[in-house]
Amino acid sequence: SKKGFIFDLDGVVVDTAKFHFVAWQRLAKSLDINFTEKENEQLKGVSRVRSLEKILEWGNKTIDQETFDEKLVQKNEEYLEMVETLTQDDILPGVHDFLLRLRESEQPIALGSASKNARPILEKLGIIDLFDAIVDGTDVSNAKPDPEVFLQAADLLHMNKRKCVVFEDSIAGIQAANAAGMISIGIGKEENLKEADEVFAGFNEMPADYIDQLLKKEK
Ligand code: G6P
Ligand code: MG
Repeated sequence: SKKGFIFDLDGVVVDTAKFHFVAWQRLAKSLDINFTEKENEQLKGVSRVRSLEKILEWGNKTIDQETFDEKLVQKNEEYLEMVETLTQDDILPGVHDFLLRLRESEQPIALGSASKNARPILEKLGIIDLFDAIVDGTDVSNAKPDPEVFLQAADLLHMNKRKCVVFEDSIAGIQAANAAGMISIGIGKEENLKEADEVFAGFNEMPADYIDQLLKKEK
């Protein structure tokens, strides 16, 4: 049997969530806004523009449109500087092996990310060819927790949405997967991902027969 396997990028496939955090924190500081790790959890899976809107809301600040745009350009430049340092070693533990095993059993694989930097990052890591379909921040108009990104991925894989499994490290992403009617697997801390169908600290923590388990699993 087959299922569609849909992966978020940042914090699931590769350890870039920490770079986003550092860059947002610098941006917040430049606006005299205190920005906590707990608030950062709320930004995971959220688009660039929406993230800055939220930071401003939390800090009770307003800025003009020009400054808003400049801040986002600067945030992305700083983020991309950190991304430059990425190597295959930054693929999160167990992910590469998991992808290879999926390919071996000819399971359809997609990326479902809010990032506009997704394609170059996958290329840099040398794993872009492992994905049959890529849906990223340049393809969708409704950000997670809206299910659009995952529904598009299912369509591209020609898989029924009920036959898809989503791997996500963000609250918004788990909500998006659930809203799509897909099996949601949280990657990270249980306390942050309570709405997920199952949670693992990482792919290296999954049982050896987990792919078979997922193929049998119903939402
Ligand atoms: C992902 C990350 C977010 C990031 C968003 C947009 O969802 O979890 O932290 O803000 O993508 O990424 P981008 O690379 O386009 O700024
Ligand atoms: Mg993520």
